[in-house]
Amino acid sequence: MNSSRAFVLVTGAVLSGLILGGAAVAESFSPYVDDKGKISIPTDFRSWYFLGSWGVAADEEGKAGSKGFHNVYTQPETVSAFRKTGKFPDGAVLVKELLKAKTDGMTTGEISYATETEGWFVMIKDSKGRFKGNKLWGRGWGWSLFKAKDPKNTVTKNFKANCIPCHVPAKKNDWIYVRGYPALKN
Ligand code: HEC
Repeated sequence: MNSSRAFVLVTGAVLSGLILGGAAVAESFSPYVDDKGKISIPTDFRSWYFLGSWGVAADEEGKAGSKGFHNVYTQPETVSAFRKTGKFPDGAVLVKELLKAKTDGMTTGEISYATETEGWFVMIKDSKGRFKGNKLWGRGWGWSLFKAKDPKNTVTKNFKANCIPCHVPAKKNDWIYVRGYPALKN
C-alpha cells in the first residue's frame, strides 16, 4: 500500500471514530437532547408514569371547577430512582402538559375535564453541567417550553429569565414542585 493511500485510510478511521464517539456521548445522555443541547418533546410521554395533575381554579366569579390542568409525567425509572435516593437521576425528564378544561354537571357532581392541549414544559436533569454557555441549561436542568402550534421548536430564550423566577419556591427540592407528586413519596 502506498503511503498516501494509508494516510487516507487512517484519517478516515480517526474521523469516523470521532463522529461515532461524539454521537455515542450525546445518545447515552438523553434521546431527547441533541449534541448542542436542543431539547425535543418525548413523543411517548403519555405512556410514561403519570405523576399528578394541578387543577387551575376558574377565576371568574360564580364559576366553579378548573379552567385548565397541568398534567405531569416522568419515566418509570425516574420514579424508582427517586424513591431510592430522594434525587432526580441524570437524564430524568419531566413533562408538564398544559390542557384547557371544561366544567359540566355530571352524574358525579360538578366536574372539570381536560379538553385540548396548549403546550408542554419540559425539564431534563443534567447532573454534569454538559452545556455550559447554553441559555436553556443550568441549575442542574435543561429547560424548554413548547407551544402546541409549533411542537418542534421551543419558545424559551433564556431559562434564567423565563423559568427560574417562578421555580424559586421549589429550589430546595431541586427546583421541582414535588408536593404535587405523591408517587415520589412511595
Ligand atoms: C408563572 C410561573 C412559572 C413559570 C414562568 C414557569 N414555571 Fe414551571 N411550574 C410552575 C409551578 C407553580 C409549577 C407546579 C404547579 C403548576 O403546574 O401550576 C411548575 C411545574 C413545572 C414542571 C413540572 C415539574 C415541577 O417542577 O413540578 C415543569 C417540567 C416545569 N414547570 C417547567 C418549566 C420550564 C421549562 C419553564 C420555563 C420555560 C417554567 N416551568 C416556567 C411555575 C412556573
